[in-house]
Amino acid sequence: MKTVYLETFGCQMNELDSELVRGHLESIGYGFTSRPDDAQILLFNTCSVREHAESKAYSRLGIVGKRKKSGEELVLGVLGCMAERDGVDMLRRYPQVDLLCGPGELDKLPMLIDNVARTSSLGDDPTGEHGRVALAGSTSRRSAALSATKDDLETLDLARAFDPDRATSAARSAYVRITRGCNKFCTYCVVPHTRGAEVHRPPDSIVEECRRLARAGVIEVTLLGQTVNHYRYHHGVALTIDGRESPQIGPGLTAFRNEPLEDDDVTTFARLLARIHDEVPELARIRFLTSYPRDFGDDVLAVMASRPRICRYLHVPVQSGSNRILKLMNRGYTVEEYLEFTDRVLAHLPDASIAGDIIVGFPTETDEDFEATKSLLRRVPFKNNFIFKYSPRPGTAAISRFDDDVPEAVKKLRNNELLALQAEIGAAVHANWIGREVDVLVERKTNRRPADAHQRSSADARVSLGVGLTAHRGSEADARTEPVQVSGRTKGDLITVFDVADADSADAMIGRIARVKVDGSGPLLLRGRLLETG
Ligand code: 5AD
Ligand code: SF4
Repeated sequence: MKTVYLETFGCQMNELDSELVRGHLESIGYGFTSRPDDAQILLFNTCSVREHAESKAYSRLGIVGKRKKSGEELVLGVLGCMAERDGVDMLRRYPQVDLLCGPGELDKLPMLIDNVARTSSLGDDPTGEHGRVALAGSTSRRSAALSATKDDLETLDLARAFDPDRATSAARSAYVRITRGCNKFCTYCVVPHTRGAEVHRPPDSIVEECRRLARAGVIEVTLLGQTVNHYRYHHGVALTIDGRESPQIGPGLTAFRNEPLEDDDVTTFARLLARIHDEVPELARIRFLTSYPRDFGDDVLAVMASRPRICRYLHVPVQSGSNRILKLMNRGYTVEEYLEFTDRVLAHLPDASIAGDIIVGFPTETDEDFEATKSLLRRVPFKNNFIFKYSPRPGTAAISRFDDDVPEAVKKLRNNELLALQAEIGAAVHANWIGREVDVLVERKTNRRPADAHQRSSADARVSLGVGLTAHRGSEADARTEPVQVSGRTKGDLITVFDVADADSADAMIGRIARVKVDGSGPLLLRGRLLETG
């Protein structure tokens, strides 16, 4: 059996897709390797959200192309958003690519691999042309949505491997999709075009998936959707032949005004959260990503406040602090509405952490617009913000409507200025926790020696990016008896590092919750002292 190398670019949705693809392929006998050189099947699960992610994927295609030219028999597959967006054009421009599979077609991947492998092994394809296959969704969003509501893709989520020893659940944490696609059409964003219309999974399937993950040892689930708070499932609308509810297309924006919680015909996001919390008590943590600043009702905040195992963390991108730019982005809210929302969050949940995304250099962004973004940042205690330079994406409204008229040098300056401002704000947010006790779900060793502890501040960013620092010199035996630093997250998603006695205790602690007293902080993390492990 051939060995597969699978690399993932982009967002958590892609990470989950890759996990499901891997589980599916493993269940039918494929083996996996983490070294591309050892693989005969190379799969790249790509992202089109920004140009940077695409360039990285293209450079991988170049490397595989060289291997193929030198005579290696390889199958090269491009999965995900680039496959959907570029379609057969990619097959034309990149002759080394054997198969394309869009995000809505991943359940059919084994069949595609099989087709390619069969054609080449039959030896009837001397040019290597005929076996090449492309399976992207239809470019019509309507038919894409209809096919997404069929059970195929749902089956892929439901059939995931529930193996507690798998690498992805080593920290006993798992992603669970609640919606696919997006209906918001922010003008800069490619997602509604690549992932199609918003489709909502039936609540029973979601709860069942959480239950099965918990049974397999998972203690933290992260519910995923492009705009999770727009989750809304109408019961009694669509059933499968065997009487189960099937995924359905999400409603329009107007559906979210003054949502009554007692409406039994509808499972709102608030009710879904409450169900998972109440029906799967083994889960120590329930998180969700990403929230949309509009239509985040008090019902969700009330469920969060009354249910201790729901994380106090909101990733709720603001994108810009200028009303003019927000309008051009088609975000559907004003700065004032965003601030009303974050004030409301902190009134219900004083300990909540808020994080976001910001795009600098959107077309026509003036110094004044940028100043408005800075003052918004100063108004909200953001624990962090991911800051992106605007990147025009083919297929979006913004690329056809506007010139990309903010010079790269200005984008870069604004990006750096915001990073510096966010570092100040982040430092203040984290410093607020000094002296308090927090529960940390331990995720990994940082490769950092506690002796280095006093030169930490410049290391904060790197720790949060998961980059190991100084490798320890000396024998393995020495290393295992010396103190080790571990890193994890609080219920508010604050990265926390602390030291433990040795590597064995660190390994034993991964995937467990530790009580830590916070005694220091940086712009991106807390430092603490271990009190006890749960
Ligand atoms: N250019 C720059 N950033 C973008 N994002 C999405 N599309 C673009 C684009 N064309 C950012 C947004 C979004 C995050 C996932 O990526 O901030 O929230
Ligand atoms: Fe893209 Fe906007 Fe949908 Fe987010 S809400 S995925 S930014 S279109």
